[in-house]
Amino acid sequence: MITLVAAISKNNCIGKDNAIPWDIPEDMKRMREITKGKVLIMGRKTWESIPENRRPLPQRTNVVITRDKNFPLPAGAERFDSINEAIAAHKDEEIIGFGGQRIFEEMIDIADVLDLTLVDQNIENCHAFFPEIDPKVWKISAEEKHNGFTFITYRRVL
Ligand SMILES: NC(=O)c1ccc[n+]([C@@H]2O[C@H](COP(=O)([O-])OP(=O)(O)OC[C@H]3O[C@@H](n4cnc5c(N)ncnc54)[C@H](OP(=O)(O)O)[C@@H]3O)[C@@H](O)[C@H]2O)c1
Repeated sequence: MITLVAAISKNNCIGKDNAIPWDIPEDMKRMREITKGKVLIMGRKTWESIPENRRPLPQRTNVVITRDKNFPLPAGAERFDSINEAIAAHKDEEIIGFGGQRIFEEMIDIADVLDLTLVDQNIENCHAFFPEIDPKVWKISAEEKHNGFTFITYRRVL
Protein backbone atom coordinates (compact mmCIF):
# COMPACT_ATOMS: atom_id res chain seq x y z
CA MET A 1 0.00 0.00 0.00
CA ILE A 2 1.14 3.55 -0.76
CA THR A 3 0.19 6.41 1.58
CA LEU A 4 1.06 10.08 1.19
CA VAL A 5 1.65 11.86 4.50
CA ALA A 6 1.62 15.66 4.47
CA ALA A 7 0.63 18.77 6.36
CA ILE A 8 -1.00 21.37 4.12
CA SER A 9 -2.03 24.99 4.66
CA LYS A 10 -5.32 26.47 3.46
CA ASN A 11 -3.54 27.68 0.29
CA ASN A 12 -2.01 24.20 -0.30
CA CYS A 13 1.43 25.18 0.97
CA ILE A 14 3.71 22.44 2.32
CA GLY A 15 7.06 24.24 2.45
CA LYS A 16 8.69 27.66 2.59
CA ASP A 17 12.45 28.38 2.51
CA ASN A 18 13.03 24.59 2.53
CA ALA A 19 11.33 24.22 5.90
CA ILE A 20 7.83 23.50 7.18
CA PRO A 21 6.25 26.90 7.91
CA TRP A 22 4.54 25.96 11.20
CA ASP A 23 5.35 24.06 14.34
CA ILE A 24 2.59 21.68 15.41
CA PRO A 25 3.91 19.03 17.83
CA GLU A 26 0.71 16.92 17.51
CA ASP A 27 1.27 16.77 13.76
CA MET A 28 4.87 15.60 14.19
CA LYS A 29 3.68 12.96 16.68
CA ARG A 30 1.02 11.69 14.28
CA MET A 31 3.54 11.67 11.43
CA ARG A 32 5.92 9.55 13.52
CA GLU A 33 3.13 7.10 14.39
CA ILE A 34 1.92 6.72 10.80
CA THR A 35 5.41 6.28 9.32
CA LYS A 36 6.97 3.97 11.92
CA GLY A 37 8.34 0.76 10.40
CA LYS A 38 7.60 1.89 6.84
CA VAL A 39 9.59 2.97 3.80
CA LEU A 40 9.72 6.76 3.41
CA ILE A 41 10.28 8.05 -0.11
CA MET A 42 11.44 11.66 -0.08
CA GLY A 43 12.99 14.16 -2.46
CA ARG A 44 16.54 15.34 -1.96
CA LYS A 45 15.41 18.75 -0.66
CA THR A 46 13.11 17.21 1.94
CA TRP A 47 16.01 15.05 3.12
CA GLU A 48 18.16 18.21 3.38
CA SER A 49 15.40 19.95 5.37
CA ILE A 50 15.74 17.37 8.18
CA PRO A 51 18.42 18.47 10.68
CA GLU A 52 21.61 16.49 10.08
CA ASN A 53 21.67 15.08 13.60
CA ARG A 54 18.10 13.74 13.21
CA ARG A 55 18.53 11.87 9.94
CA PRO A 56 18.02 9.20 8.89
CA LEU A 57 14.71 9.23 10.73
CA PRO A 58 14.91 6.22 13.05
CA GLN A 59 12.82 3.02 12.87
CA ARG A 60 11.90 3.55 9.23
CA THR A 61 13.67 3.11 5.90
CA ASN A 62 14.76 6.50 4.55
CA VAL A 63 14.83 6.58 0.75
CA VAL A 64 16.14 9.72 -0.98
CA ILE A 65 15.38 10.39 -4.65
CA THR A 66 18.06 12.39 -6.46
CA ARG A 67 19.66 12.38 -9.88
CA ASP A 68 23.02 12.94 -8.19
CA LYS A 69 24.57 9.47 -8.17
CA ASN A 70 27.27 10.64 -5.75
CA PHE A 71 24.89 12.25 -3.28
CA PRO A 72 26.41 11.56 0.14
CA LEU A 73 24.13 9.64 2.50
CA PRO A 74 24.86 8.15 5.90
CA ALA A 75 24.39 4.48 6.72
CA GLY A 76 20.72 3.64 7.03
CA ALA A 77 19.57 5.83 4.11
CA GLU A 78 19.20 4.70 0.48
CA ARG A 79 19.49 6.64 -2.77
CA PHE A 80 17.47 6.00 -5.94
CA ASP A 81 17.33 7.79 -9.32
CA SER A 82 13.56 7.55 -9.51
CA ILE A 83 10.44 6.85 -7.48
CA ASN A 84 9.64 3.80 -9.61
CA GLU A 85 13.00 2.20 -8.84
CA ALA A 86 12.55 2.87 -5.13
CA ILE A 87 9.06 1.34 -5.15
CA ALA A 88 10.29 -1.70 -7.10
CA ALA A 89 13.05 -2.27 -4.55
CA HIS A 90 10.50 -2.21 -1.71
CA LYS A 91 7.52 -3.74 -3.47
CA ASP A 92 6.37 -5.94 -0.59
CA GLU A 93 6.58 -3.17 2.02
CA GLU A 94 4.33 -0.35 3.14
CA ILE A 95 5.43 2.79 1.34
CA ILE A 96 4.99 6.38 2.43
CA GLY A 97 5.30 9.30 0.02
CA PHE A 98 7.00 11.77 2.36
CA GLY A 99 7.34 14.85 0.13
CA GLY A 100 8.11 17.39 -1.09
CA GLN A 101 6.13 18.80 -3.97
CA ARG A 102 7.66 16.75 -6.81
CA ILE A 103 7.33 13.52 -4.86
CA PHE A 104 3.69 14.22 -3.99
CA GLU A 105 2.91 15.27 -7.57
CA GLU A 106 4.26 12.01 -8.95
CA MET A 107 2.95 9.70 -6.25
CA ILE A 108 -0.62 11.00 -5.89
CA ASP A 109 -1.59 9.06 -9.04
CA ILE A 110 -0.43 5.75 -7.56
CA ALA A 111 -1.28 6.31 -3.88
CA ASP A 112 -4.08 4.45 -2.08
CA VAL A 113 -4.41 6.72 0.97
CA LEU A 114 -3.71 10.37 1.83
CA ASP A 115 -3.07 10.97 5.54
CA LEU A 116 -3.12 14.75 5.82
CA THR A 117 -3.05 17.50 8.38
CA LEU A 118 -4.97 20.53 7.17
CA VAL A 119 -3.39 23.54 8.85
CA ASP A 120 -5.67 26.47 9.47
CA GLN A 121 -3.26 29.09 8.09
CA ASN A 122 -2.50 30.84 4.81
CA ILE A 123 1.23 30.92 4.03
CA GLU A 124 2.66 33.73 1.93
CA ASN A 125 5.74 33.30 -0.27
CA CYS A 126 5.32 29.55 -0.23
CA HIS A 127 7.67 27.59 -2.54
CA ALA A 128 6.30 24.03 -2.31
CA PHE A 129 2.66 22.99 -2.71
CA PHE A 130 0.55 19.84 -2.41
CA PRO A 131 -1.18 18.80 -5.65
CA GLU A 132 -4.93 19.09 -6.20
CA ILE A 133 -7.06 16.46 -4.44
CA ASP A 134 -9.61 15.44 -7.06
CA PRO A 135 -12.96 14.83 -5.28
CA LYS A 136 -13.91 12.25 -7.93
CA VAL A 137 -10.86 10.18 -6.99
CA TRP A 138 -10.56 10.79 -3.21
CA LYS A 139 -13.20 10.40 -0.48
CA ILE A 140 -12.79 11.34 3.17
CA SER A 141 -12.71 8.27 5.42
CA ALA A 142 -11.78 9.93 8.72
CA GLU A 143 -11.68 13.48 10.03
CA GLU A 144 -10.59 14.77 13.44
CA LYS A 145 -10.75 18.49 14.18
CA HIS A 146 -8.34 20.17 16.57
CA ASN A 147 -7.62 23.75 17.50
CA GLY A 148 -5.87 25.20 14.44
CA PHE A 149 -5.62 22.01 12.37
CA THR A 150 -7.57 18.94 11.24
CA PHE A 151 -6.35 15.40 10.73
CA ILE A 152 -8.01 13.98 7.64
CA THR A 153 -7.69 10.69 5.78
CA TYR A 154 -8.72 10.22 2.16
CA ARG A 155 -9.06 6.85 0.40
CA ARG A 156 -8.91 6.32 -3.33
CA VAL A 157 -12.30 5.40 -4.82
CA LEU A 158 -11.40 5.64 -8.51
N1 LIG B 1 4.33 19.93 4.93
C1 LIG B 1 4.76 18.71 4.69
O1 LIG B 1 4.08 17.72 5.00
C2 LIG B 1 6.08 18.51 4.02
C3 LIG B 1 6.58 17.22 3.76
C4 LIG B 1 7.81 17.09 3.13
C5 LIG B 1 8.52 18.21 2.75
N2 LIG B 1 7.99 19.44 3.03
C6 LIG B 1 8.69 20.67 2.60
O2 LIG B 1 8.78 20.64 1.19
C7 LIG B 1 9.94 21.38 0.80
C8 LIG B 1 10.81 20.52 -0.10
O3 LIG B 1 10.05 20.13 -1.22
P1 LIG B 1 10.48 20.44 -2.71
O4 LIG B 1 9.29 20.19 -3.56
O5 LIG B 1 11.13 21.79 -2.76
O6 LIG B 1 11.63 19.40 -2.97
P2 LIG B 1 11.67 17.77 -2.88
O7 LIG B 1 10.57 17.18 -3.68
O8 LIG B 1 11.81 17.35 -1.47
O9 LIG B 1 13.08 17.50 -3.57
C9 LIG B 1 13.24 17.82 -4.94
C10 LIG B 1 14.45 17.09 -5.43
O10 LIG B 1 14.25 15.69 -5.27
C11 LIG B 1 14.75 15.02 -6.42
N3 LIG B 1 13.60 14.46 -7.15
C12 LIG B 1 12.29 14.63 -6.85
N4 LIG B 1 11.54 13.91 -7.71
C13 LIG B 1 12.39 13.28 -8.53
C14 LIG B 1 12.24 12.39 -9.61
N5 LIG B 1 11.04 11.98 -10.00
N6 LIG B 1 13.33 11.93 -10.23
C15 LIG B 1 14.56 12.30 -9.82
N7 LIG B 1 14.77 13.16 -8.80
C16 LIG B 1 13.70 13.63 -8.17
C17 LIG B 1 15.51 16.06 -7.21
O11 LIG B 1 16.79 16.09 -6.62
P3 LIG B 1 18.15 16.46 -7.43
O12 LIG B 1 18.00 17.90 -7.79
O13 LIG B 1 19.21 16.21 -6.40
O14 LIG B 1 18.23 15.53 -8.58
C18 LIG B 1 14.73 17.33 -6.89
O15 LIG B 1 15.48 18.51 -7.09
C19 LIG B 1 10.62 21.80 2.10
O16 LIG B 1 10.18 23.10 2.42
C20 LIG B 1 10.08 20.80 3.10
O17 LIG B 1 10.10 21.33 4.42
C21 LIG B 1 6.81 19.60 3.67
